[in-house]
Amino acid sequence: MAVCEILKIGDEKLYQQSQPVVEFNTLELEQLVADLYDTMLAEDGAGLAAPQIGILKQVVIFGGKKTLRYPDVEDIPLTILINPKIDILSEQTEDYWEGCLSIPGMRGLVSRPSDICYSGYNQFGEAIKRKVNGFHARVVQHECDHLNGILYSMKTQQIKSLE
Ligand code: NI
Repeated sequence: MAVCEILKIGDEKLYQQSQPVVEFNTLELEQLVADLYDTMLAEDGAGLAAPQIGILKQVVIFGGKKTLRYPDVEDIPLTILINPKIDILSEQTEDYWEGCLSIPGMRGLVSRPSDICYSGYNQFGEAIKRKVNGFHARVVQHECDHLNGILYSMKTQQIKSLE
């Protein structure tokens, strides 16, 4: 368990495809989840994906305690999501000024589908399936993009500095 260094925009590992997890409930996976949790908490993130700490596995974490980075959003249950799949449930999209721990000090206006169903597994191999909208849907889509080598900066024309 450790707080890990978060790779920043420009690092080649952030642009690669992550591999599915094939074995659940292992010490290795438990350690990865603990590292993601510790690092997300230390950086006050809304979520974190394994490639952001240099591990090209399809594992993301999000939710838990409210983050000061996004003070006005709803609570999201702390979730470990492995080998995720996302189905878009409506044509409706929403714009939001999104941030990323790999792009410090910046926000970008990103349009995303507002209603999704996501599914996958937790670290014990138990199935997860949820229909969500709003910030919850946004965070899941943002984190899952990381698993496909996509940063929000590739999906926006409008980026601003927070300073
Ligand atoms: Ni991010």
